[in-house]
Amino acid sequence: MLVDPFALLEHARRQGYAIGAYDLIDTAMLEGIIQGAERVAAPVILSLAEAHLDLFDEQALMMAVLAMAQRTPLPVAIHYDHGSSLERLERASRLGYTSLMLDASHLGWDENVAATRVAAEFAHRLGMPLEGELGYVPGEEGRDAELHPGEIRYTDPEEARAFVTETGCAWLAVSIGTVHGRFRGEPRLDFTRLRRLRETVGVPLVIHGGTGLSEDQFKELVRAGAHKINYYTALVELAGQAALGRGRWDQMRQAAVAAIAAEVARTSCLWGAAGQADAVRRFAAPWVAVEHVIYYNWSRSDPELQTMQTRGLEVLGQLPGVQRIAAGRAERADAPYQYLWTMTLANPQAMQAFRNDPRHQDYANAYFRPGAVERITIDFLHIHPQSACPTAGLAAPTPEP
Ligand code: 13P
Repeated sequence: MLVDPFALLEHARRQGYAIGAYDLIDTAMLEGIIQGAERVAAPVILSLAEAHLDLFDEQALMMAVLAMAQRTPLPVAIHYDHGSSLERLERASRLGYTSLMLDASHLGWDENVAATRVAAEFAHRLGMPLEGELGYVPGEEGRDAELHPGEIRYTDPEEARAFVTETGCAWLAVSIGTVHGRFRGEPRLDFTRLRRLRETVGVPLVIHGGTGLSEDQFKELVRAGAHKINYYTALVELAGQAALGRGRWDQMRQAAVAAIAAEVARTSCLWGAAGQADAVRRFAAPWVAVEHVIYYNWSRSDPELQTMQTRGLEVLGQLPGVQRIAAGRAERADAPYQYLWTMTLANPQAMQAFRNDPRHQDYANAYFRPGAVERITIDFLHIHPQSACPTAGLAAPTPEP
């Protein structure tokens, strides 16, 4: 089930453990991650990185991610990893993500603060936590740090405190010696720095570049104050190795899913997330979408009705947090209302932001309200967690014991 992601990481922070944010690029990884987390009853963050979006059909994969996030009893968040601009975050807010990252860590202080502040205001208005980053973790998702070098820039605890105060970001990614992908030499992590960061910064801390650390390093990382650990390269390597030598795609896929599940279970145990699912469900409110429904009759001409509907689909469908939009006509001519607008908003905060959005107001005043004089508008909360799931009618398979 999707839960309030602010509370999800706040639970980890208060209880002193880290939740895995596993980047995924297909449904085999998605299934492996959920299976592994279910095996050890761990809360989990399903993460899609912007740098990977050319590898798959994001909209199609997000349908599957949403379906599985809503179906599993585990507390889940869906995270947009390493977003590069506000425009990309706006788009992500419509696709079903529940938390967003803006990575402006390559910019100077002033630019990073300014961009992260705007992104945090945007995301928090929609009820989605914004992860900012201060310091530099070399490398890029799926590409070893060796190919994307640059010196590690460690995060300074006092600067981190100022960064969080000035930007208002909900989560902070910090640099304490990890790199994305594989290391060239032995990773040397600055745990003292992480402990100082935990003391000075009052928000959950994120570690990028989880691949390549030893069990002891992971345990120390969690003791020192990591609350979300991003993990990718090891998963794709293990999946690839498990699939090698099997001649058929169906067997390769099955082996890959099993390898990913085993690694997710192992890391969730190491990071202390295993066994926390029940406690998080008690602590974090469910993530509830809103159905915005308008029944109306039309008092103007048919061409004006056409224009109003076409413009509405264009304008409203592009607004933040609008996940689905449909224009309808009554099946029967004697229905008391002849037309319908229905749209799914990410959650009640996104509904409020939609109501106040000047683009929505301008459209409604110019095109909709003048002709739809007779109307009823009701916002409904999706009370069943699977309401917005396209496959909700299918029985869920029984999870492995
Ligand atoms: P690794 O690929 O090193 O596990 O890092 C993943 C990551 O940090 C995603 O943001």
